[in-house]
Amino acid sequence: MASGLDSYKFGSKNNWRRRIWNEAVKRLRGSGKKISECVVVYLPGPDNIDGEIATSKGFKPWNLYAVEIDKKRTNMLRSKKVNVINEDLNTVLTVWNAPEKIDFVFADFCGGITHNAIGLILNLLLSECFNEKAVVAVNLLRGRDSHYLKAYGFMLKDINKHRGLYFYRILMLFYCRLSASFQDLEPTKKLASKQITFLNKMTELWANPHSLEYKSKCGKATLVMDSLIFNWGSAVNFTNTDRKIFKNISHVKTPQKDNSVLNLTFDYNCDFSTIRRKIGASRAIHTMRRNGTI
Ligand SMILES: C[S@@+](CC[C@H](N)C(=O)[O-])C[C@H]1O[C@@H](n2cnc3c(N)ncnc32)[C@H](O)[C@@H]1O
Repeated sequence: MASGLDSYKFGSKNNWRRRIWNEAVKRLRGSGKKISECVVVYLPGPDNIDGEIATSKGFKPWNLYAVEIDKKRTNMLRSKKVNVINEDLNTVLTVWNAPEKIDFVFADFCGGITHNAIGLILNLLLSECFNEKAVVAVNLLRGRDSHYLKAYGFMLKDINKHRGLYFYRILMLFYCRLSASFQDLEPTKKLASKQITFLNKMTELWANPHSLEYKSKCGKATLVMDSLIFNWGSAVNFTNTDRKIFKNISHVKTPQKDNSVLNLTFDYNCDFSTIRRKIGASRAIHTMRRNGTI
């Protein structure tokens, strides 16, 4: 399921990539973290440029978890000695059981509002993989959305096309719907202006999101990429009671284009042992490289 381009080494993407890493470092340091101790999960793409930038910024190679869903790309990366988990990023985040929690997740999906984006939103709300004061970055492509965008379109009319901001608005809405104290914010066909005001306030106050965009050429077409980076862990500050409420909800109901309901499952009771073994294997390679035993 390779997606996107064969190489992501081009000017606007290089600038953008550096900006995201700089912003992540600034935010992590601002939360009092040592970059050398931060655990990162990211999508390396075919060239693992992110891995190189990360180490140049002081992240340690043994704290960088590269995840790639495509088998061919995984093999290519492995031939360059990149330690890669060949899995879906969202599944990895859902079942993450390494003793270290994640400080920075960099989801450079380069896709629209699809199952990838919605899955990440669910993980942000429900997974326990993130450290306190974690930072999240997403990179989404304008105009390649699935039916999810149609389903949520009515909640996004006041936002000007930016897919990162769409992502954030949907995250806020999910949060409101999951939490008992915000039941009255259940989305209707059109958001009431007081709901928009409330959500915009949350956007301002919560996670300090920073949006950016860049353009890239694909044949004759110009693609617009929308990114967002924000401080998630410190914003949510979930208590155990919150988590209990969230975990009791085994699915999140989201309207489809025909207004029927789609169940997004987020099931903690599945047997995830194979994926956990993959995470464990990646961690073991990191430990051996760190200790110089391989
Ligand atoms: C846009 S590229 C990453 C580029 C890289 N960040 C860079 O700047 O060079 C996205 C990569 O993630 C993979 N990918 C997409 N969705 C994924 C998912 N849900 N889980 C794991 N890998 C995924 C794609 O196969 C692709 O190789």
